[in-house]
Amino acid sequence: MSTRQTWDSTSYQRDTGFVSTYGSDVLSWLEPKTDERILDLGCGDGVLTKEIAEAGAHVVGVDASESFIETAKAQGLDARVVDAHDLPFDAEFDAVFSNAAMHWMLEPHKVIAGVRRSLKPGGRFVAEFGGFGNVAAIVTAMQAVGAEMGGDTSLASPWFFPTVDQYRAMLEGDGFQVEEITTFYRPTPLPTGMRSWLKVMRTPFFDQFGTRSDEALDKVEQALRPAMCDHQGQWIADYVRLRFRAVLD
Ligand code: BEZ
Repeated sequence: MSTRQTWDSTSYQRDTGFVSTYGSDVLSWLEPKTDERILDLGCGDGVLTKEIAEAGAHVVGVDASESFIETAKAQGLDARVVDAHDLPFDAEFDAVFSNAAMHWMLEPHKVIAGVRRSLKPGGRFVAEFGGFGNVAAIVTAMQAVGAEMGGDTSLASPWFFPTVDQYRAMLEGDGFQVEEITTFYRPTPLPTGMRSWLKVMRTPFFDQFGTRSDEALDKVEQALRPAMCDHQGQWIADYVRLRFRAVLD
């Protein structure tokens, strides 16, 4: 994912540990089988790649982040640094899987075309990522603070969060038959709070304020607290998921 910001695999694991936890659910839509060849697109630190391998499949994990790929390789996985917009595979996989990564891939037509090329005839594409309205309150708060402090508000939301209709049309337009596609709200506890999430996920937005970056963080956190921090001090983010299973016609 060439557009993804630079990740530190350790802080990502610590501050967003929920990403792979929830990923086990979408794995049930993949149903990996023994000896299948599966591509894990945007595999991150490889937690789900490993689960797929443990199901008996031969899995290749790809991610644009070197830090993530190093972590995945350290677990003995076949993991490679690859830009998802430029997949180098040709009719090699029975399935392509992706969790919590495709919202970082800002040229979705290129990604879908690459997935199609990577799949064997009849192959399946199963994925979950941010759907329309994902983290809307968080983005709105960042945009408001960005405008107030004279910053670049476009840095608040660099993601692709399509509707079901929009993404179905893209898949069908590239030769996929969509078997199932759905969107749902997933209120998501943030293990280390909103501030850490903001720092990890939107470093470029806050860095633009230089010595005032803490002030920007304070303002965004304060704006969100009444709606997103519960009576026990637990922060809960407004996640919306889009999930689908499609097969090549
Ligand atoms: C997500 O998994 O939905 C997500 C992660 C980081 C930023 C925005 C959305």
